[in-house]
Amino acid sequence: MAYIQFEKINKRFGANHVLRDISLTIEKGQLVTLLGPSGCGKSTLLRTLAGLEAPDSGRVILDGEDITGKDPRRRNVGMIFQQYSLFPNMTVRENIAFGLKMQKKLPAEEINERIARVIDMVELHGKEKSLPAQLSGGQQQRVALARSIITEPKVLLFDEPLSAIDAKLRKALQLRIKEIQRSLGITAIFVTHDQDEAMLMSDVIHLFSTGKIEQSGRPIDMYTAPRTRFAAGFIGHYNILSPAQFEAVTGENRGCDVAIRPETVEVQPQPFPERQDAYRSAAVVEDFTPHGNILRYTLSVGSVNLQADVLFRSVLLFEPGQTVYLSVEKKNCLSIA
Ligand SMILES: Nc1ncnc2c1ncn2[C@@H]1O[C@H](COP(=O)(O)OP(=O)(O)OP(=O)(O)O)[C@@H](O)[C@H]1O
Ligand SMILES: [Mg+2]
Repeated sequence: MAYIQFEKINKRFGANHVLRDISLTIEKGQLVTLLGPSGCGKSTLLRTLAGLEAPDSGRVILDGEDITGKDPRRRNVGMIFQQYSLFPNMTVRENIAFGLKMQKKLPAEEINERIARVIDMVELHGKEKSLPAQLSGGQQQRVALARSIITEPKVLLFDEPLSAIDAKLRKALQLRIKEIQRSLGITAIFVTHDQDEAMLMSDVIHLFSTGKIEQSGRPIDMYTAPRTRFAAGFIGHYNILSPAQFEAVTGENRGCDVAIRPETVEVQPQPFPERQDAYRSAAVVEDFTPHGNILRYTLSVGSVNLQADVLFRSVLLFEPGQTVYLSVEKKNCLSIA
């Protein structure tokens, strides 16, 4: 049996049907992300596990126990929010110790040991006596994390904990959280609307669109095999061609939309030799934009625009207005719904 099970969860706020029969399972020790656009119900689902929101129907099972109606304080779930939610008048050490004191009567020696261990984990040495206001956003989030893990919860819930933190530090914290989660072997659910964050951190991604799960899978599979237009539009960067557009480029009509990643489109100045397993076409260079070491070219085939990524080494390979040739392997043209 899976460690966490959401069974047919429904939740309405008035006429707004926010969670629509959501079922999903999470294995012990995994870090799973709920990824999706704003308002699709990610936080609401997370909150049903924390007990901050009661589903209208359905069940939440944690470690074999139906916790759907259980008192939130007794669920043994740690939650970290976007707002740091630390006690402003308590020091870092007091904030971290707080969860532990609430939870059970432990000998002072063990409390001290545990505090030292988590301060070590989140690298907050020397900050024990600081007040939250004296810390950066990233440091405050590490205090919140320490405060949660010290109680050894069954599951850690993260609701966009890094969205207020600048890009560079954010990446470092993503890796740190992942590392800590792995080393503790703790089960975690991480809510984000940032696909890069989800790709980097997750064992499994559950992609949400309004109130339902659109697709679930390992990051690599979500990236290489989106099943729907929504998934292809949300994860990675895809050319999405209608049946007619795909036919205009390849001469073949699949009767469905087709998604093609720009880095799978090969471009060269002379025609490609014919191959059974690839489509090819002439195209005109419209424009290009640099993305780090990649040049993303917009090519036109008749009235259809298609993007192709070319590794940028030292010279500009193609100029706008130039006729070029493209080739894309059939296996990289994904039929989507
Ligand atoms: N307490 C509430 N009362 C009324 N409507 C609510 C409440 N909480 C959430 N909603 C609505 O439910 C929908 C889903 O909200 P939720 O917060 O779960 O979305 P989300 O996916 O977490 O979005 P975001 O990425 O913006 O945080 C939204 O339309 C929101 O307005
Ligand atoms: Mg939210």
